[in-house]
Amino acid sequence: MTAPGPHTALTRLVGVRHPIVQTGMGWVAGPRLVSAVANAGALGILASATMTPQQLRSAVREVRSRTDAPFGVNLRADAGDARERVRIMIDEGVRVASFALAPSKDLMAELKDAGVLVVPSVGARRHAEKVAAWGADAVVVQGGEGGGHTGEVATTVLLPQVVDAVDIPVIAAGGFYDGRGLVAALAYGAAGVAMGTRFLLTAESTVPDAVKARYLAATVKDVTVTTRVDGLPHRMLRTDLVTALERSGPLRSLTRAARHAAAFRRVSGTSWPRLLRDGLALRHRQDLTWSQVLLAANTPMMLKAAMVDGRTDAGVMASGQVAGVIEDVPSCGALITGMVREAEETLARLRINGAC
Ligand SMILES: Cc1cc2nc3c(=O)[nH]c(=O)nc-3n(C[C@H](O)[C@H](O)[C@H](O)COP(=O)(O)O)c2cc1C
Repeated sequence: MTAPGPHTALTRLVGVRHPIVQTGMGWVAGPRLVSAVANAGALGILASATMTPQQLRSAVREVRSRTDAPFGVNLRADAGDARERVRIMIDEGVRVASFALAPSKDLMAELKDAGVLVVPSVGARRHAEKVAAWGADAVVVQGGEGGGHTGEVATTVLLPQVVDAVDIPVIAAGGFYDGRGLVAALAYGAAGVAMGTRFLLTAESTVPDAVKARYLAATVKDVTVTTRVDGLPHRMLRTDLVTALERSGPLRSLTRAARHAAAFRRVSGTSWPRLLRDGLALRHRQDLTWSQVLLAANTPMMLKAAMVDGRTDAGVMASGQVAGVIEDVPSCGALITGMVREAEETLARLRINGAC
C-alpha cells in the first residue's frame, strides 16, 4: 500500500515513505533519534563527527537493530580519519552519506562506487553546482535561517536559485517545521525538506529537558548568528555566554579554544599528531590562521556542554530561527504524521481554491 502524503524524487531515491529528513546534528542525532525517525518513515541521519570511529560503528549497528528502514551518516571530509569512517559506512551498509561543511571529491567517489547515496549540504548555488558535477545523488540546501553553521541568503531566495541550477533532487533546509513549509518547499521545486531544530525538539531527542526548555522559551529574536565560537557564522540561541564570547579579547578566546582542543582530542579518540595533521589540513584547505584552527575545537566541546551535559550556562545551543515558533515536543511519529497530514490538507485547500 502506498504511504499517504507527497511522493517525490527523494522518497524514490532513498526508499523512504515521506520526503522529510532529520539532519545530522552533533551530539543530538544519535541512534535513538535516528531510528525513531526511520521507523516513522522519514530519513534519519546519524551525526558522526562527535563520535570515535568505534562509536560510529556501534551507533550504526544500534540503529540497524531498531529499524529495517534506510538511514544515513553525516561526516566531516576534513577529519584525518574520514577515510576510516567511510570504510565503516560501506562495511555496515549505510544507505546515505551526508557531509558537514565541504565534501571531498575522492570520498564521494569511494562512497558512490560502493553504492552509498551521497547527499552533501550546501549554502550557496556554486557549491550545489560543484557537488552535482562531482556526482552527488541529491543536495541539501540550507538557507540562512537554519541552525548551526549557516550562510547569509534566506531559504526563499537560495532554494529556487539552486533548483534552477542543478538537475539532481534538491532538499530544502533552514526554517522548516510543519506541513505548510513542506508544501512550500515542494512548490519551489524541492524534493523534500530537511530539519534540525524541529527534530532536536522531539521526545526521542536525548537533549536534556532543561535545554529543550530554553529552546521552547526562545522567541525568533533570541536566535542570533555569531562568528565568535569557531570563526565561522554560526546560528544559535543568544545567551549570556554568547554575549561574553563576543566581548572577550583574543587571549581569552585562544586559552578557551586550547582547553577545548585538548578535551576534543580525548572524546574523539584523536591522537596529538593526528590533531596536528587535521589542523594543518584545515588551515591549508580553508586558508585559516592557526588561531582559527584552534577555535574550530570550540564547537564540538561547547555543543556537548549543552546537548549532553545540560549546561545551558557553559554550552552553545545551536538553533535555527524556527526555535522561536516551535512550542511542543512531540514524538517523531506524531511530528511526521502530523506534517504529512497538514501537507495533504494544504494541497487540498489549494486545489479547492483553484490555486493548483
Ligand atoms: C544543535 C545543532 C547541531 C548541528 N550539528 C551539525 C553537524 O554536526 N553537522 C551538520 O552538517 N549540520 C549540523 N547542524 C545543522 C543541521 O544539520 C541543519 O542543517 C539545520 O539545523 C537546518 O536548519 P533548521 O534548524 O532551521 O531546521 C546542526 C544544527 C543544530 C541545531
